[in-house]
Amino acid sequence: MCGIVGYIGPREPEGVLLEGLKRLEYRGYDSAGVAIFNKGKVEIVRAVGKLTQLEKALKGKRFSGPIGIGHTRWATHGKSTLENAHPHTAGKVKIVHNGIIENYIELKDDLISKGHKFLSETDTEVIVHLIDEELKRGDNRGEAIRRAMLRLKGAYALGVIFDDDEKHLYAIRNGAPLIVGVGEHEHFIASDIPAILNYTNKVIPLRDEEIAICTQEECSIMDFKNGNVPRTPQKIEWDAEMVEKGGYPHYMLKEIHEQPRVIMETIDKYIDKDRMVPSFDDLKIPVSTLKDIERIEIVACGTSYYAGLVAEYYFEEFARIPTEVQLASEYRYRHPVANKRTLIIAVSQSGETADTLGAVRMGRELGATVLALSNVRESTIPRESSAAIYTEAGLEIGVASTKAFTTQISTLFILALHIALIKKTMTKEAVSEAIHELTALPWLVEQSLKRETLIKQLAEKFYNYRAFFYIGRQLLYPVALEGALKLKEISYISAEGYAAGEMKHGPIALVDQELPVVCLVTPGPIYDKVMSNVEEIQARDGIILGIGEAGDSRLKKISREFIPMPKAPYHLTPLVYTIPMQLLAYFIAVKKGTDIDQPKNLAKSVTVE
Ligand code: M6R
Repeated sequence: MCGIVGYIGPREPEGVLLEGLKRLEYRGYDSAGVAIFNKGKVEIVRAVGKLTQLEKALKGKRFSGPIGIGHTRWATHGKSTLENAHPHTAGKVKIVHNGIIENYIELKDDLISKGHKFLSETDTEVIVHLIDEELKRGDNRGEAIRRAMLRLKGAYALGVIFDDDEKHLYAIRNGAPLIVGVGEHEHFIASDIPAILNYTNKVIPLRDEEIAICTQEECSIMDFKNGNVPRTPQKIEWDAEMVEKGGYPHYMLKEIHEQPRVIMETIDKYIDKDRMVPSFDDLKIPVSTLKDIERIEIVACGTSYYAGLVAEYYFEEFARIPTEVQLASEYRYRHPVANKRTLIIAVSQSGETADTLGAVRMGRELGATVLALSNVRESTIPRESSAAIYTEAGLEIGVASTKAFTTQISTLFILALHIALIKKTMTKEAVSEAIHELTALPWLVEQSLKRETLIKQLAEKFYNYRAFFYIGRQLLYPVALEGALKLKEISYISAEGYAAGEMKHGPIALVDQELPVVCLVTPGPIYDKVMSNVEEIQARDGIILGIGEAGDSRLKKISREFIPMPKAPYHLTPLVYTIPMQLLAYFIAVKKGTDIDQPKNLAKSVTVE
């Protein structure tokens, strides 16, 4: 996740680029930079850290314009250093990039053998050298870019300018978002609409495998096959409410789409990216206390409880601490056993849920250390706990919780690794590797969101069914529960989540040709076992809606409908597979015409018992 902008026109490019980057800073803020035409060549200014650092570096500088590109970075390949900051350059080429180049190592080796010198650790730098290399085969810039793109594997959005050309701004999209803004005698490019909305409301959303070549007066678009693609700008007509909802019809959909960003912000807060280790410096629980913890109890309600069920696997596997997840409403009326060697983790988006608060108070009375995980700083649960940590989901307005869930799981994943380091149940190398994998999560979630159209079509076929089942095992079992909860709360369809292996102990009696069963399957230690459970349902005529890894032909073959998921590290699959659960519930509810953001009988914050 990074943000890119570009401008060609009569305004001062530095102002337009900085303004755009401010609105894109949510996409990353490890470093920022601009490349702007100045007196016959392009000048690059970069700074490590937030955009304010770039503003400082640009203070007093004047550029003759009329063209420039800008970037705000969220580091994936290479640390947050000046060398790794964008724009990158090779020969006359300057580029900014959002995305991940999967085959960058082999391309880099090839380019080095041809004499190219690399200055950064980024995957991006291969793109700029590749275009530079292709320029040797002819000076047609668009054609050189097109040939270079054909060699890249992965997802990317690019802005490109050349040292000796102040008349052309190039934008390329393949798998990462990018729009062209069309103004009077000016053009803009940006990762997201709000970045340019102050200047124009006419927008061409680029499609995958498209290259836009913009001058001040016009913008032509060609595809990677070198065909011209005629495109007419769309007018963005956002009223105040839509601006508030980011152009989405419902807060829930907006919040679903915010997940790559808010997960990134949450991860950023709790990891030290230079050392690739968890970072809970402000945690008000002494390391010695965590070291002595013998048991963990996670208390929560609803969706937060399901986040706890995912985290249970993390705490037991990483930190080797026996962990139980308790419904707060049940916990407080049992006779729980807890003492000073018990860590109670109270998970609550709102920080106000009455039952969770009751469990917190009870835990403290018993002498346990109570850690709150909330999304709201001023709320009661963090205040009454021994210590608190926070997700960075931002305000969640839709009653159906979405981004709170995925940020809770992300935080608990890092916390489990933190405790594993303290307890020495994992080596520093293993923890770093897990953290490294986690940094790709925002991107994986972004890929998952691309299944939206497919899921919408699925919803249109199935919204009239009377009941649904959701099944999964291990890490995907809580995701099945969450999928069922999402569907019932906003579409009012009866839905049940079940551990796939339990179906034969009763619920399979319900299976017939009228029952859609959402089957969550991922490669991993028990793939064959889950597939047997799915086959048992198929044998009884159940309608299999398979959600599995893109290449899973076995699942695809027995599925009536199949949603392909990006390949993800096993421990992160709950986060990636939650996205289709949220989208399916959302689009079914849209078809049913329910009040999605405020479903009947529910409230966002449940402050009564
Ligand atoms: O604010 P909390 O996380 O404590 O809320 C817990 C539940 O009330 C909440 O997750 C509820 O289940 C949601 N409506 C689910 O979408």
